[in-house]
Amino acid sequence: MLVAVLSVKGSPGVTTFSVALAARWPSPTRALLVEADPSGGDVGTRFSLESAPGLVSLAVAARRSDDPALLWQHAQVLPGGLPVVAAPPDADRARAALSALADPTTGAGVLRTAASASDSVVIVDCGRIDAGSPAMPIVRSADAMVLLTRAHADDLAHLARRLNAIGRWTAHPAMLLVGDGYSTTDVARELGVLPLGRVPHDPHGAAVLCGRPSTLRWGRSGPAHSALGQIAHKVAKVLIAEQAPAPAVPRQAPADNQPVPVLHAVPGVPANPISVNGLRLAPPPPPNMENISRGGQA
Ligand SMILES: Nc1ncnc2c1ncn2[C@@H]1O[C@H](COP(=O)(O)OP(=O)(O)O)[C@@H](O)[C@H]1O
Ligand SMILES: [Mg+2]
Repeated sequence: MLVAVLSVKGSPGVTTFSVALAARWPSPTRALLVEADPSGGDVGTRFSLESAPGLVSLAVAARRSDDPALLWQHAQVLPGGLPVVAAPPDADRARAALSALADPTTGAGVLRTAASASDSVVIVDCGRIDAGSPAMPIVRSADAMVLLTRAHADDLAHLARRLNAIGRWTAHPAMLLVGDGYSTTDVARELGVLPLGRVPHDPHGAAVLCGRPSTLRWGRSGPAHSALGQIAHKVAKVLIAEQAPAPAVPRQAPADNQPVPVLHAVPGVPANPISVNGLRLAPPPPPNMENISRGGQA
């Protein structure tokens, strides 16, 4: 399975959550993290990795071979044993590697090949994305997309304007709220889509996932026991449940004239017009709204 993790505004914790999702993916599936952020990588610096192998060496090798083992050969290993293909911190180098790797005509061939193995999941940190991002071909060929957003008015207003287009990028899009701000219920009502859950503010969990000294440790106790690790594990289980096993070919995102199939539309919430501030006008709260918020908390 190929999972794209991304934001469309700000820095809500995409890299941290991507590390958590890969680290907490249920075994026996082999998880690998690819850092495909066109603004440059952070994982290598955070974990004091060598400058190679990584995204740059992978992009060079992928020109000559589409061996499914290529991704694993260009990974380094984080303290808990998680393999990661790290992006260079320099944005120009990261963009160049991504443009070579994620050709718009061929899609993200080498990532897809590795992710199509039934015993593997490839989690891709696509950073903050827009339509012109060189990581977009990866998003479009992904089996699932996890969009992280903060839940403040400006973040949600921005998202509301783009939600219809974003929902078409991938066959299985999902939205995760991060930190405080509007409640899950309010966001569901205002956007008309149901967040998959909420990533809690968890400085200790985030620290260990960012390679900083922490009272938590990697291995069995670190990401597994942090609040961040727990929500990542839940999200992984939902993504697995929503996928047909081992898709051999990329799932097609819906065409522009087809309805968006998922993004967890809230039953009973009408498609309201967009208000001046970009948020949908709120209908009266439907009954039992809290009950349909899977894993989320207000
Ligand atoms: N859930 C969280 N709780 C507390 N701090 C977090 C959380 N997620 C990320 N952080 C912190 O926020 C900062 C930015 O996180 P990062 O994952 O690099 O964001 P992004 O990839 O969206 O730019 C890091 O210092 C990280 O430790
Ligand atoms: Mg990042």
